[in-house]
Amino acid sequence: MTGANPEILAGHTFTVPPHRHNRVVETVLQYVDPARALRVLDLGCGTGLNTLALADVLPRATVTGVDLSAASIAVAESTRRRHPAADRVTLTAANYLVFSGGPYEVIVSESVLYAIPASDEALFGKIAGDLVPGGLLVYTMPTGALGNRLLVGLRRGLRKMRGRASDRLLLGIARVLHGGRYDDALLRERVPYMYVVPDRYDTRALHAKLAALWSFEILTTAPIRRASPAQLGHRLVAVRRRST
Ligand SMILES: C[S@@+](CC[C@H](N)C(=O)[O-])C[C@H]1O[C@@H](n2cnc3c(N)ncnc32)[C@H](O)[C@@H]1O
Repeated sequence: MTGANPEILAGHTFTVPPHRHNRVVETVLQYVDPARALRVLDLGCGTGLNTLALADVLPRATVTGVDLSAASIAVAESTRRRHPAADRVTLTAANYLVFSGGPYEVIVSESVLYAIPASDEALFGKIAGDLVPGGLLVYTMPTGALGNRLLVGLRRGLRKMRGRASDRLLLGIARVLHGGRYDDALLRERVPYMYVVPDRYDTRALHAKLAALWSFEILTTAPIRRASPAQLGHRLVAVRRRST
């Protein structure tokens, strides 16, 4: 475990980039009845785009967004106030591991679980305990593929020599790779994330653990196309906590 991810993440904002809008939300809609009064948690909500999108497509749901970063929650909160579903959405700056809310029918967590320095037992045990029986968890996480592990090796090296020069280098690379697609503010926002080293990967062994320890049934797993060679390849996973 790296332990340093929270320090890298806590002071920054993180906004879902345009190519990822709705990915998790569409998966939730495949497995729930949108007419139900669901309780939904967006774990690691960043600036809240998924949180508000979930409130949009689930018109009777109450949606909670929690994020370690007070900076992200402040941005999310100002967007929430202007949003038509504002009164069904709650945002909290907290470490999920010590956050008490719930229980929830749905928990989503996009590109977050890999960066939480806790044992699988502590993290997924808490998630399982926060879900009602039959509850749905949809997450995305980097896979354990060789390409990811090599990239993570590079990130580890970069993290050791982190400074203005490495930040500038990363921003320069991001501009070359994504400049035509994303504005500069979004690229700058993403620089700190290039120093994040996964605390876990999404692997078959993890899926087996989810099934054996917390009775999760795997509903779907799907690779996600990476937007550039500098990104870790992720997988989208939907699992349901068995009722019995
Ligand atoms: C890569 S960003 C993803 C944000 C958003 N879910 C998205 O898809 O754009 C990871 C987010 O997880 C949050 N995070 C990391 N560890 C957390 C924890 N223990 N509790 C709550 N949020 C956490 C970070 O602050 C950051 O906003």
